[in-house]
Amino acid sequence: MARKPIIAGNWKMNNTIAAGVELVKELIPLVKDNDKVDIVVCPTSTALAGVSEAKKGSNIHVGAQNVHWEKSGAFTGEISADMLTEIGVEYCVLGHSERRDYFGETDEGVNKRARAAFAAGITPIICCGESLEIREKGAYLEKVAYQVKMALDGFKPEEVEKLVIAYEPIWAIGTGKTATFDQAEEVCKHIRETVAAAYGQKAADEIRIQYGGSVKPATIKDLMQQPNVDGALVGGASLKAKDFSEIVNF
Ligand code: PGA
Repeated sequence: MARKPIIAGNWKMNNTIAAGVELVKELIPLVKDNDKVDIVVCPTSTALAGVSEAKKGSNIHVGAQNVHWEKSGAFTGEISADMLTEIGVEYCVLGHSERRDYFGETDEGVNKRARAAFAAGITPIICCGESLEIREKGAYLEKVAYQVKMALDGFKPEEVEKLVIAYEPIWAIGTGKTATFDQAEEVCKHIRETVAAAYGQKAADEIRIQYGGSVKPATIKDLMQQPNVDGALVGGASLKAKDFSEIVNF
């Protein structure tokens, strides 16, 4: 079965409500004829509802940048999955390296968040990736496989096949330093093999694996030629409608 590509724009802590609504309105006509890619934009929390309203009737989906595992309660600063589905959120980026590095998110927490999101009908986009230090030591495949196994713990094979994994080498995020196509393919293939070993071939054949890290209009075509790369998680280049549309319309 051919996997449908999925390309998501991670806006990070950028764009007010007004700017986010303007960006998505600019994007809608540029991607309206694209039915070959699942297109997702991930605004900051305050802009989720506005962007979700503004994209209604289009082929653009909305993702959040995090979700908490509890339904409600004393968790200052957190948002539950039901609060996200209420405003039309269908995807959620989880375990981004910025969350792990700056806010102490753990593999266990990412797993709990992913399970809560999935249970509420939100598709998790689970991020993994190694630091430059681990890459240079040569331990990157083990590191990424470990993160993936931890994040998927407790999911059933028929659930795993619906998830999205984003491989983002930390040294390539926001640095302009993209991994080579071979480097991206090597790790995405290893992720798929890791999924196959733990959850079976069907789950491995259907789970979608993105590459992320300085993806640009100029690099997306070759990236998408890699057999195990099913899409991209795009940071900087998703903040301009023209660039992001060129990426999704690759
Ligand atoms: P970048 O960010 O495209 O700006 O490198 C990617 C990401 O962090 O998801």
